[in-house]
Amino acid sequence: MHFTLLTGLLLGIAQAVVVPNHPGPFSVTMRVKALTDHSRTDPLNNSVKRQVLVSVFSPVPDSTKCSTEVIPYMPPATAASYGALAQSAGLPADIFSSFQLELCNLSNAQARRCRGGGKTTHRFPLVLFSPGLAESRLLYSVTAKSIAAQGYIVVTIDHPYDTEVIEFPDGSVVRSNGTDGMEQQLTEIRAADMSFILSRLRHLSSSDNPLFRTLPAKVDFTHVLAMGHSLGGAAAAQVLPLDKRFLGGIDMDGRLFNPVLTSGMRQPFLMLGRERHAEEDATWDSFWKVLRGPEGMVGVAGTTHASFTDLPALVQALGLPAEAQSRVEQVLGTAGGSRMQEIVAGVCAGFFRSVFEGEFWKLLEAIKEFSEVSVRNGSFGGV
Ligand SMILES: *[C@@H]1O[C@H](CO)[C@@H](O)[C@H](O)[C@H]1NC(C)=O
Ligand SMILES: *[C@@H]1O[C@H](CO)[C@@H](O)[C@H](O)[C@H]1NC(C)=O
Ligand SMILES: *[C@@H]1O[C@H](CO)[C@@H](O)[C@H](O)[C@H]1NC(C)=O
Ligand SMILES: *[C@@H]1O[C@H](CO)[C@@H](O)[C@H](O)[C@H]1NC(C)=O
Repeated sequence: MHFTLLTGLLLGIAQAVVVPNHPGPFSVTMRVKALTDHSRTDPLNNSVKRQVLVSVFSPVPDSTKCSTEVIPYMPPATAASYGALAQSAGLPADIFSSFQLELCNLSNAQARRCRGGGKTTHRFPLVLFSPGLAESRLLYSVTAKSIAAQGYIVVTIDHPYDTEVIEFPDGSVVRSNGTDGMEQQLTEIRAADMSFILSRLRHLSSSDNPLFRTLPAKVDFTHVLAMGHSLGGAAAAQVLPLDKRFLGGIDMDGRLFNPVLTSGMRQPFLMLGRERHAEEDATWDSFWKVLRGPEGMVGVAGTTHASFTDLPALVQALGLPAEAQSRVEQVLGTAGGSRMQEIVAGVCAGFFRSVFEGEFWKLLEAIKEFSEVSVRNGSFGGV
């Protein structure tokens, strides 16, 4: 994260700032769940079993049942960790604890009624989302909510000892001990995490687990996708050839790593990034050559690497004075927070539909909605 030169421009920020997502046909509710892989020793800590933490964002089929709940965007240790970075750039240290998310609050009985039964059961495709290197899953909650509002169950993931700080619901905190030079290994560990999460969620959904008992919708496990930002996008690429349950994937502005960088894959894949990503990162053109499914390499004008996180939406919610805004744009791009939410949700949903329907050209229709988005390379033939 690189905020710069904002010193003194942030006076008068309100105590609490609700960060809006891009709205869609659905309200969104959220659950947090720790999942332990009892079959796997943590490759980064041999004294524990691998345990990930996920947020599950679910569309609500009947929003009339929602009451509004407002929750902190980040719990204290995570907000403090981001706050330390913010402070080093001259921002208030407590800035991340002032952000809030608005969600649909449902009682268990209301959730059950929303889920329905028999013919009216509401099922939504599943999207697993892996964050940037060391970043918290929470830095993508607004993005996940924007995608979920389009009709997808979106699961954001904290990967232990890679994510800087993870606060588990039982109060335990797991911190990274540094990740320098470990990128390639981390993409493989994250890919294994994604396969495990998919298996575990599938298992829990068929048991009487509270997670699924309190969700207002069911997961369509025949329609599963992987995506991520930065190293998380590389992890999404990594899992696809290994686990065919994932029907397609999206890398948002992430450099790719072996083995998938040379082996490629057959599933549809979208590379969605800043406009000149391929000119600045040779792995994009190399990867393009080994992709065998329908594929798109798409750029968004006015973006930087950080544009594909929640940061632009957070900053926009602060309502900065114009002179601060122009400084922020040097780091976060000119595309703007709400517009980035709209673009990412629209292009991702367009890609997902094109994968499920086997009509990859439909992605082009979604892209045409946004003047900032252009296709650098594309093979949009039939699947
Ligand atoms: C590994 O896990 C143990 C038990 O939770 C913990 O005490 C230890 O600090 C962890 N190691 C690292 C490198 O974080
Ligand atoms: C959700 O609603 C329940 C029941 O009305 C209430 O007890 C609970 O505090 C609400 N949760 C939040 C986070 O507002
Ligand atoms: C944490 O990282 C430091 C510096 O790389 C290393 O010396 C130390 O052994 C590491 N600790 C653990 C528990 O892995
Ligand atoms: C991808 O697009 C770039 C820029 O238009 C072009 O130079 C390159 O040849 C294309 N690559 C492929 C494999 O189509």
